[in-house]
Formats: sequence, C-alpha cells, structure tokens
Amino acid sequence: MTSGSGRKAARRAAIAIAVFIAGAVALHMIAPESFYPWAKAIHVIAVISWMAGMLYLPRLFVYHAEAGSGTPQSETFKLMEARLLRLIINPAMIVTWIFGLWLAWKGFGFSGGWLHAKIMGVLVLSGVHGYFAASVRRFAEDRNEKPARHWRLMNEVPTVLMVIIVVLVVVKPF
Ligand code: HEM
Repeated sequence: MTSGSGRKAARRAAIAIAVFIAGAVALHMIAPESFYPWAKAIHVIAVISWMAGMLYLPRLFVYHAEAGSGTPQSETFKLMEARLLRLIINPAMIVTWIFGLWLAWKGFGFSGGWLHAKIMGVLVLSGVHGYFAASVRRFAEDRNEKPARHWRLMNEVPTVLMVIIVVLVVVKPF
C-alpha cells in the first residue's frame, strides 16, 4: 500500500503527533495548574480531525462502490482511503482518547452521568471506526460486497453519534 510518498507522509504524521504530545507534556510540566484548558483545546482539535475523517471516509466508500473494483478510479480510491485512515483518522482517534481520558480523570475523577454516557457513545464511535478500518482493507483487496446505498446510510452514523456526544459534554444534561 505505502509508496515512497506514502511513507514520507506517514513519517510526517508520526512526527506531528510526537511534537503535539511533547509540547503538551512540556506545557504540563511548566504550568500544571493552567494545563487543563490547553488539554481541552488539543482534545477538541483532535476530535475535529477524527470527525472530519469519519465523515469523509464513508463518502469515499460510496463512490468506490459505485466505481466497482478493477477500475482505475478504484485504485485511486484505495490510496485515498488508506492514507486518510493511516495519516488522519487513526492518529486523531489516539490523541482524542489520550486527552479525553486525562480530562475525565483530572477534571471529573471519571464521575458524572453525562461523562459515562459520553464514553459509551465514544466506544460505539470507536467500534464504527474499527468497521471502517476493516472496510478499507476489504476495498483494498477488492472484497467489498456492500452496495453504495449501505455506505450512504453508514455515512449518517458518525454524524448522529457526534451530535449526541457533543450535546452530552457541552450541556451535561445529567
Ligand atoms: C475518547 C473518549 C473521550 C473522553 C473520555 C472525553 C472526555 C471529555 C472531557 C472530560 C471533557 C472536558 C469537559 C469540561 O471540561 O467541561 C471533554 C471536552 C470535550 N469533548 Fe470529549 N471526550 C472524549 C471524546 C470526544 C469525542 C469523540 C467528541 C466529539 C465527537 C468530544 C467532544 C468534546 C468537546 C466538544 C469538548 C469541549 C466541551 C466544552 O468545552 O464545553 N469528545 N471531553
């Protein structure tokens, strides 16, 4: 899957993640008492990247299923899907979880009905992530059997989960 430029992009993504985390650790060591809002900002930035990828990937699956396997478009979609997953969606999910769990521990001691419900929602979202990751592999091996209509429906699932999760954390209804 990975060509020379793919490896370079993967290395760049890994360096970006490492710089992000190193910066956060340094910030925490310098001013631990004022680190919380910085951690929340990094969390929300990672969330936006994760959601952008989770909303775009099933859209690519729609077009890929319509193009059919063995076509030149199919080969282009395979590359786009693999890079979107490896360079954006996977790293963004990891950073979202690391900073989300830190915020939950530091800010709330993992207590609060809204937080428990939110974590449940994110576990379901992570399950959808896993399904999409397996589907990238299936498309790459020309083994996708799902029609475009299925992927159009799947495109709505991360959207609905995102709305529920954001309302839970901003409104904290219970
Ligand atoms: C991976 C598991 C996650 C955990 C444990 C987690 C936990 C948290 C915690 C404890 C906060 C701080 C709340 C506050 O200070 O008021 C927070 C903020 C936030 N989270 Fe998450 N989160 C996770 C994933 C997500 C996801 C997937 C989304 C969106 C789809 C999301 C959206 C947000 C937003 C928008 C805020 C800022 C809320 C505000 O400033 O009022 N989080 N998260």
